[in-house]
Amino acid sequence: MTHVVTDNCHRCRYTDCVATCPVACFHVDEARAYIDPEVCIDCSACIPACPVHAIAEEFDLPADQQHWIEINAREAKRHPVQRAKLEPLAGADERRRALGY
Ligand code: F3S
Repeated sequence: MTHVVTDNCHRCRYTDCVATCPVACFHVDEARAYIDPEVCIDCSACIPACPVHAIAEEFDLPADQQHWIEINAREAKRHPVQRAKLEPLAGADERRRALGY
């Protein structure tokens, strides 16, 4: 079991989640974050931290979000670990409002 970053993270990348993670399981690219399922300990600390509700437990993902499990596992291996909060991406607040948060 793991936690998964879903599509709401895209073009936001607030990284409040990173600051809550006790095991450094987050990896980031230029647009979003991913969780390494081999490192995540399922503590759920990151879920309430995300301003755009982008993170879910694997078993809570609806059918149309299941593909994020494989994407997180694959992309976490391709991008560096992020251990500290970053500035949100330019346009993150506009995207957040567009998402309804
Ligand atoms: Fe993305 Fe939310 Fe974290 S926007 S980087 S999952 S705080």
